[in-house]
Amino acid sequence: MLIAQISDCHIRDHEGWFGRLVDTTETLGQVVEHLLALEPAPDVILATGDLTDDGTPAQYATLRDTLAPIAERIVPLPGNHDEGPAFRLAFADLLPVDVAVDHCSYVVDRYPVRLVGLDTSLPGRHDGLFDADREAWLEQALSADDRPTLVFTHFPPFDTGLVFMDQAGVSNADRLRATIERHPHVRLLVTGHLHRPIQTTIGSTLVSTCPSTGNQINLDLHPDRAAAIDEPPAFQLHRWDGERFITHTGLVRDPAAVRTVDLGGYAAEVRRRYEAGEPFTK
Ligand SMILES: [Fe+2]
Ligand SMILES: [Fe+2]
Repeated sequence: MLIAQISDCHIRDHEGWFGRLVDTTETLGQVVEHLLALEPAPDVILATGDLTDDGTPAQYATLRDTLAPIAERIVPLPGNHDEGPAFRLAFADLLPVDVAVDHCSYVVDRYPVRLVGLDTSLPGRHDGLFDADREAWLEQALSADDRPTLVFTHFPPFDTGLVFMDQAGVSNADRLRATIERHPHVRLLVTGHLHRPIQTTIGSTLVSTCPSTGNQINLDLHPDRAAAIDEPPAFQLHRWDGERFITHTGLVRDPAAVRTVDLGGYAAEVRRRYEAGEPFTK
């Protein structure tokens, strides 16, 4: 099973903090084109929050237009830049009928890996909360089935070292980590929010944050500095091979500016030796 992940698209129609850095509608369009060209094609495409900057109907309309070529594979979750009611309205065709009432959490059960979406965003807030209601929901969702499971959520439940991002993170992250640890069949926990690829573990569960399809956050662990940076738009591919997840990060650039060297001849020679059982001598 191949699971793509896009995150933090931040579709905007005004100049906010990051307005002059990149055109996020344009970069999301480039990522969509890139995903469409992938072979094999991803079975699903998780969209892990901050899909718009302000959660307005106009921004969701632009978002849905841009996502239209891959819409049927999108599994959407809100982030702190989204607005719950407008988000549910914008994705009414893709959200299941049994989505949680007070938060946009739900389970997708139709694949070899269960997909459990946990929404910890709060109305009118830029931080998140793993409260008793969400804890009970997640415990029930994970206890219901012990098949291999991927949990997707917006806020990472750990300190990343990017201090200003950590300070407006999800409260009760320790309780979320404890819930994951009680369920080792959660083989992968993926998040957005950080605008960078970051990996850690919770118990035996691999944890990964996804870069943005727009601007990235600069890798600078100095506690007093913070910057956005025009590193390329990106996505992740989580490949489930039946035993484990293997996570790839893909960078997306203007196809006209990309230079490649065709390694087809070399790959053919490697395949020939592999199939003939010949050693890979220099
Ligand atoms: Fe974001
Ligand atoms: Fe966020």
